[in-house]
Amino acid sequence: MSDLALLDHVDQVRRDVAALTRREHKALLGQFMTPSTVARFMASLFIDNGVRNVRLLDAGAGIGSLTSAFLDRWSHGGFDFSHVDVTAHEIDPRLLGHLDSTLTAYAKRLPLEWSIRTQDFIEDAVNNIQFGDDRYTHAILNPPYKKIGGHSSHRLLLRRLGIETVNLYSAFVALALSLLAPGGQLVAIVPRSFCNGPYYRPFREFLLTRAALRHLHLFAARDHAFQDDGVLQENIILLLEKGARQGDVTVSQATDSDFADLATQVFPFERIVLAGDPEQCIHIPTSGQADPLDASSTFRHSLADIGIEVSTGPVVDFRLREHLRDMPEPGAVPLLYPCHFSGGALAWPRADARKPNALMRNADTEKWLYPNGFYAVVRRFSSKEEKRRIVASVVSPLAIDAPALGFENHLNVFHRDKSGIPEDVAHGLAAYLNSTAVDRHFRRFSGHTQVNVADLRRMKFPARDALSALGRWAMKTGAPTQEEIDREVESNGTRFLGPYNRQD
Ligand SMILES: C[S@@+](CC[C@H](N)C(=O)[O-])C[C@H]1O[C@@H](n2cnc3c(N)ncnc32)[C@H](O)[C@@H]1O
Repeated sequence: MSDLALLDHVDQVRRDVAALTRREHKALLGQFMTPSTVARFMASLFIDNGVRNVRLLDAGAGIGSLTSAFLDRWSHGGFDFSHVDVTAHEIDPRLLGHLDSTLTAYAKRLPLEWSIRTQDFIEDAVNNIQFGDDRYTHAILNPPYKKIGGHSSHRLLLRRLGIETVNLYSAFVALALSLLAPGGQLVAIVPRSFCNGPYYRPFREFLLTRAALRHLHLFAARDHAFQDDGVLQENIILLLEKGARQGDVTVSQATDSDFADLATQVFPFERIVLAGDPEQCIHIPTSGQADPLDASSTFRHSLADIGIEVSTGPVVDFRLREHLRDMPEPGAVPLLYPCHFSGGALAWPRADARKPNALMRNADTEKWLYPNGFYAVVRRFSSKEEKRRIVASVVSPLAIDAPALGFENHLNVFHRDKSGIPEDVAHGLAAYLNSTAVDRHFRRFSGHTQVNVADLRRMKFPARDALSALGRWAMKTGAPTQEEIDREVESNGTRFLGPYNRQD
């Protein structure tokens, strides 16, 4: 069998195994195998740094697709190694036979040693980092994706090394990085979700303080990298170099695993992680898609600048269960859930909703209520099908006759001191947030459908006068279409320049 046929053979085995594996088993072990085109691309990212005796780690190796692509590059002259020692970790006994055959086949044609470790990688790695001296020059991984419970043994083990993280994939990457020797390189394919959001902040900090980010690859369309498995994930591939000084970052993008439209650009690191950002969010600038918010001198004000705050809806329904009411009744106030906003309009009460419509107003609930008024609200979770990630609406006292309002926890609410904001500002905020420019901007730093208050607080807004003007325009237009909003926000953005803007 030629080398090319060997990687093709591994790819065929991958398809056969995937077809024979039940969905539940895949989900249990986070088992989504890398297609050969993606594996080859990942192997191509390692930089030849003169190391001759290589120790390669493949954590969660599956049937060995990634190691196979790495060894393929070597056998085709893509690396100048003299010897490679592979350590492959895999816990699923069903895959071990295939993994063994893959490695055996390569060992017949290359100066290669290998071992398979069948125990849990997390336990093994934590042990090794604390008491062992296995250190690797290279790591290649497509780790399992699965939540780690707050009190699980994995969480506690990881904590011993100062790794606070919420998913197996980030745990695998953090451990693999810890197991690298200085100058060692790590290539991993992971969901994009770690790039922002508070849960992954400690993980981002862990990576960025220990390694230089050299390359980021973005799959532009969801579900393409793992087509055969039909996974709905936005995946990225990253190359890290342990202990190296951070320089420019290469960013590449392709629509799918064929890499037919691969586009590559180099960016200064400050474009990826903004200087002074305490959240250390990782932005992935994409070529060809200008971000009007970045370029604009109009949209540059923080919420604090414009005197507005944003909070998650304070009513957590299961904590106030006894006070919930299906429909409005005397003594109750409206309770607003995301289901009360459809197509940007407020529809309350909804007899057909499976959520309560009202909350009794009393000593137990009073502190969670806001006075009735104008507010802009944004859903915290949008569905994958939704065109935009940020879906904003206006709450108006003209539509609801009540002294106070309850905002449920699945909404983010723009307010001022827990009270309403001017009508035109509420409409202006909603129109701005519903624009394609904002959506594009948001997608650059967020890979998931969740919109956190921290994300909204970090965003830049037009000056307050400009927001008021936009709001008055939206009110006059009635229910502006997407095209109308975009035209108003993007191309005519400069029309909103208020006096505050003009002087800076
Ligand atoms: C996303 S798959 C990727 C497999 C392979 N690296 C590839 O790219 O095709 C992750 C693999 O990790 C294995 N795995 C899951 N939990 C593990 C653990 N705790 N220790 C070692 N391997 C694990 C799964 O069985 C699965 O084969």
